[in-house]
Amino acid sequence: MHHSSTKNIRRCLKRHLLTDPVLGRQDDLRVLDVGGADYNGSYRPLIERLGYTYTSADISEGNSVDVVMTDPDRLPFDDASFDLVICGQTFEHSPRFWVLFAEMVRVCHDDGMIIVAAPSAGPVHRFPVDCYRFLPDSFESIADDHGLVLLEAWTSSVGPFFDVVAAFMRHSRTEACIEPDPDRWRALDDTAQNEAPADVDPAQETMLGVEPALDFLTRVHRTLVPRGYLEIGVWKGFSLVKAKCPAVGVDPYPQVTAKLRDNHRVMPMTAEDFFEMEDVPALVEPLDLVYVDGLHVVEHALMDFMNAERVSHRGTVIIIDDVYPNHPAQASRERITRAWTGDVWKITMILAVARPDLVLVPIDTFPTGSLMVLGADPTSTVLWDTYDAMIAGEMEPRDPDDMTLHRSGAISPTDRLLDRLLRTIREQRDQPEGPDIESLRTLVQGSRPRRLVRS
Ligand SMILES: C[S@@+](CC[C@H](N)C(=O)[O-])C[C@H]1O[C@@H](n2cnc3c(N)ncnc32)[C@H](O)[C@@H]1O
Repeated sequence: MHHSSTKNIRRCLKRHLLTDPVLGRQDDLRVLDVGGADYNGSYRPLIERLGYTYTSADISEGNSVDVVMTDPDRLPFDDASFDLVICGQTFEHSPRFWVLFAEMVRVCHDDGMIIVAAPSAGPVHRFPVDCYRFLPDSFESIADDHGLVLLEAWTSSVGPFFDVVAAFMRHSRTEACIEPDPDRWRALDDTAQNEAPADVDPAQETMLGVEPALDFLTRVHRTLVPRGYLEIGVWKGFSLVKAKCPAVGVDPYPQVTAKLRDNHRVMPMTAEDFFEMEDVPALVEPLDLVYVDGLHVVEHALMDFMNAERVSHRGTVIIIDDVYPNHPAQASRERITRAWTGDVWKITMILAVARPDLVLVPIDTFPTGSLMVLGADPTSTVLWDTYDAMIAGEMEPRDPDDMTLHRSGAISPTDRLLDRLLRTIREQRDQPEGPDIESLRTLVQGSRPRRLVRS
């Protein structure tokens, strides 16, 4: 399963199941996952976190398979025995997917819901065959065929498979949608890992850096004078309060103690939910500065960057925090230290390789380093087109390399080069073409040999 598939199903469950006036009110739902073998992921954790009863059926034995289907055209369950039937990344492998779908309709309760995710594009991947790609209209037709209500069919913007995700019901409801249960809503999200473990090994808590990241951020605000500021990961609000302009901070667990002013707005939700909102561009425009400091795992940090870039302009400065773990333990994807960067450090190499059009300025801030990214291009689809293929390898745990641990090539946060870059961006950001990114690149490259603080 590619990573974005879980996000797609989570979105569907939040939008349709938790708001459903019948299913959304029930504490236990019987959920069937068709083609539910665990290949690099399963919907089981999502469903079990909701407290529902999960059963997976697959044509072959495998990880997380509860029931093996001896006949690929038949689901070995009684009529109407499930409240929710999910099927992801399976229809393309089912030579007669329409027969499988008819079976899913049969085993789904009259009040039940069906969710299907299947690729619209992407490379051939045979399990044991790969026969089809789908479009939203494919699911419109299949709904018509069975007299189902199609709640939604949409195409994900994450490649290379660009899944089409569809939600169906057997009958439309007479009652209006309900407010989703907040505990269930949260249960679907990835854990924030805000608590440091009680026992930490002091040897693993080393910290480096010329100047605190918050002081650096203050200087960026002073020099860049942003007209709009977006922050992913607010926590106590210490970084959000640095903004004198209209500022939006996003955090599912804000614990704000800093004194916020009228220009500061906290959105208590995950970055994923925030960027789903249609009015995000209007909320943040003109977005001149972004601070990415949310969930410290590479798949989230990269997606936060991608989403932020989509609402940016050429002159937006995007700062990603925590790119320099000081010890391999700090880079663990599961938090085991107080100073925790997770594997956000991987984003530097990802952007360097996939996005040579960007200008990357790694900065030696205390305690865990920052990456300043210039030359945002809201029209770029490179990361979106390849996200799932790229992130699959990156989500494997591995220790940071020595260059990262030693901060090789990082620029001092107090270096005058940074002031010069930010002043130039501020002066040029209103020009029709935005700032001259190539001249900024030349400045950064030319400054490197004498600016290295650690090598
Ligand atoms: C290191 S703290 C941010 C600190 C803050 N920027 C500062 O410098 O004072 C990371 C924050 O990210 C938040 N977070 C975790 N998961 C998130 C998500 N999916 N979207 C947005 N924020 C998230 C956590 O709740 C936590 O408050």
